[in-house]
Amino acid sequence: MHVPPVNLRPILQATEPAWRERLSELFARMHFILGPQLEGFEEELSAAFGAREAIGVGTGTAAIELCLRAARICTPQQEVITSALTAPFTGIGIAGAGPKLRLADVDPETLLLDADDAGNRASRKTAAIVPVHLYGQPCEMTRLRAVARTLRAVLIQDACQAHGAQHKGKPLTRYSPYVCYSFYPTKNLGCLGDGGAVLTNQAGVAKRLRMLRDGGRRGGQVSYVTGINSRLDEMQCCYLRAFLPSLEEWNADRARTAASYDVLLSGCEAVRRVGTNGEAVHHLYVIRAARRNRLREHLAKKGIGTGVHYPVPLHLMPAFRDSGLRRGDLPHAEKACREIVSLPLWPYMPESMVQYVAEQVRAFYRS
Ligand SMILES: Cc1ncc(COP(=O)(O)O)c(C=O)c1O
Repeated sequence: MHVPPVNLRPILQATEPAWRERLSELFARMHFILGPQLEGFEEELSAAFGAREAIGVGTGTAAIELCLRAARICTPQQEVITSALTAPFTGIGIAGAGPKLRLADVDPETLLLDADDAGNRASRKTAAIVPVHLYGQPCEMTRLRAVARTLRAVLIQDACQAHGAQHKGKPLTRYSPYVCYSFYPTKNLGCLGDGGAVLTNQAGVAKRLRMLRDGGRRGGQVSYVTGINSRLDEMQCCYLRAFLPSLEEWNADRARTAASYDVLLSGCEAVRRVGTNGEAVHHLYVIRAARRNRLREHLAKKGIGTGVHYPVPLHLMPAFRDSGLRRGDLPHAEKACREIVSLPLWPYMPESMVQYVAEQVRAFYRS
């Protein structure tokens, strides 16, 4: 059996009439940037996620960079702390705005940013903390908000893996005015190219972000500040508007698959699921596995594709050498990177495939 790590075909098929209709509107109108599809999508997204405003941008990376610029955190005298266990793009977005990147360790169970470690590594220069809702699990935002308040730092949430997630029953925008999303195709809500958005409840933040994403312009040909060029284009909005109404159903389907894996792998002592809280939207199904690389080789031979999110913590990536940390400095993130593996997961994944993957994991450890 062939089991890819992700398969977008079922969701494209299920929504085909809706995206075809949007594309017909697009080609009738011939307006490709900053047009009615973006306006419509921003309204629908903010309503669906319980926020006052949504601002479509070019990527999740740009969403993070733009939030820092909007908060005027863009000089090397300022520092921004994030988790060492995340996509490198979290760090790239921070570095792109101009402040110094600082990295903190993760909680060994949840693999989410450890608020206490972030607080301990902060200094008077710390201007922002960027918690990452990794694998679809929301971070402990109440604790992080308290740490940020003590430091007088801004909280910019990287929700690039957490579309539709809430925390303690409230929208993520209740915890800070900057919530960043990516619409990279494999995300819970993805487009068919690059895309991203910021959600906020503050009208002033939204206004500034709209200016910054469009080269610092205010609708005309004059730039008022040196923004960047990072707009969510009309064609991607056609797909996103067709997909958004199904997000809840797709997240429920991911949860069903994750629950099946939980049952099928229970009692297999060599693997342990990365702790998820009840609010997770199951972007990835991640286990910590003994002899991880050998397990992946075995699964690949059986036709099963897996991923590692992520194999190297940010402080050990050459791009982030300036963080000033060395091997051994963030032990929980480093250990996790050696053990984690993401099993196949996507909406409408057949149960027979879930069973086959779990059976092959068990077979590897039996042999
Ligand atoms: C946690 C996290 N942060 C940031 C990003 C960057 O998003 P994008 O690829 O849209 O720039 C991603 C996606 O790759 C991500 O998973």
